[in-house]
Amino acid sequence: IRLLSVASEVYPLVKTGGLADVAGALPAALAGEGVATTTLIPGYPAVLDAAGDGERLHSYVDLMGGPATLVRAQAAGLDLFVLDAPHLFERPGNPYLGPDGRDWEDNALRFGAFACAAADLGSGRVAGLEYDVLQLHDWQAGLAAAYLHYDPPVRRPGVVATIHNLAFQGVFPAWLLGPLGLPAEAFALDGIEYHDQISFLKAALIFADRITTVSPTYATEIMGEAGGMGLHGLLAGRGGVVSGILNGIDTAVWNPATDPALAARFDASDLAARAANKAALQREFGLDGDPAAFLIGSVGRLTEQKGMDLLPPLMPDLVARGAQFAMLGSGDAGLEAAFDALADAHSGAVGVRIGYDEALAHLIEGGCDAFLMPSRFEPCGLTQMYALRYGAVPIVARVGGLADTVIDASPYALAQCVATGFQFAAGSAASLHAALTRAMAMFANDPAAWSRLQRNGMATDVSWGSAAREYAALFDVIRPKG
Ligand code: ADP
Ligand code: GLC
Repeated sequence: IRLLSVASEVYPLVKTGGLADVAGALPAALAGEGVATTTLIPGYPAVLDAAGDGERLHSYVDLMGGPATLVRAQAAGLDLFVLDAPHLFERPGNPYLGPDGRDWEDNALRFGAFACAAADLGSGRVAGLEYDVLQLHDWQAGLAAAYLHYDPPVRRPGVVATIHNLAFQGVFPAWLLGPLGLPAEAFALDGIEYHDQISFLKAALIFADRITTVSPTYATEIMGEAGGMGLHGLLAGRGGVVSGILNGIDTAVWNPATDPALAARFDASDLAARAANKAALQREFGLDGDPAAFLIGSVGRLTEQKGMDLLPPLMPDLVARGAQFAMLGSGDAGLEAAFDALADAHSGAVGVRIGYDEALAHLIEGGCDAFLMPSRFEPCGLTQMYALRYGAVPIVARVGGLADTVIDASPYALAQCVATGFQFAAGSAASLHAALTRAMAMFANDPAAWSRLQRNGMATDVSWGSAAREYAALFDVIRPKG
């Protein structure tokens, strides 16, 4: 099966979040299932640098306002098509935001062009290359499904829309329909019209053969009003083609036995070696070097989704009871300031790093006792799976992929010896407080039970194996036959 994976970010070339990790790791796992993946990615400066001099296979005189080229290249073990379009992508920094932190004004044209290139590749219009399936990741790739629908090729590949985050829908003013090269008839309820605007994600959800999202629980949540972000009606209406395939993680990049970012490498048979990482983490964050302190780590975007705003009111009490915090993240300016203020008020107990630091993220996973993820919604979540693999006990909201990957230390699960962490009711500060208290008590009073959680977590299969099999089976169903 020849797959074109269409993704606006791919680790290690460009990354703002979990989508990059997934797009970067899935091709290797799919290869083992007989799926050959080519990844189409925008030609941001970092991507063009990494891709070097590729084969310039297809040129556009004018793609949404300027010349563009599809370059075939290889980088980081991935087969790539890079859309080199300087007028759209030759910009520094974040792929979606300008230096002022706001969306680039021409994002519709940027990702419209990207989707258009995906549709051209999928239609066999580029150098005679053919693909059996297009996997469209999130809204940035979504419009490709509309191009294929309104300008159908002789041989249409199967199309999968994969939702990593329904909160981002690619909604733009309706007048862009013309500049995007779509017919007026597309502005309809059964087209890409969305509350008098147009939505790139809706295009994918309407016209794809299959819709997948990144965990089974999130797949059911998005078909209901509470989790559907306005699209639950559409998704429920297509419920027969919606499924959740749980993400894996890259177990080579995230391997505590070989991780160069750790102070000490370890595996499940040697958990005592984690102590050196805990000490290094405490030093790194200016925390008191107390091996017995309950060290809570977190890594992630500081946004409404991640629920970190629940934490500040609880922190003074937790610190008074001996907890420490090592937090890495960036996002909402108010939250960043709140955490900085807490670090100032509780130096030695609360350490905060505002920013993005891949190596430090590894050290946090390898050194903290518990890893916190209080998300309000979470399509899958990768960091709690890194935590499982690194012997950090996850404390998570019972929602989306977090509910699917962490087994709460309930009396029943403890009796069955299957627990791997702690869950609480999403969005509830009281429930979060209770879970943190439960975890602290077990850590302090029952080290045997605690290390059992760690070892269960480390034994959990978080690889891409089963997801790769599920994707391959799904691709096989929708690929054109004959
Ligand atoms: P999301 O994609 O919603 O942000 P995920 O848990 O799926 O959440 O993936 C987040 C990815 O980004 C993980 O690989 C995580 O380690 C990384 N990450 C997020 N914030 C930071 C940060 N400040 N520094 C380093 N890595 C980060
Ligand atoms: C999104 C989601 C996250 C998921 C990631 C990869 O960014 O917010 O939950 O793990 O995509 O699928």
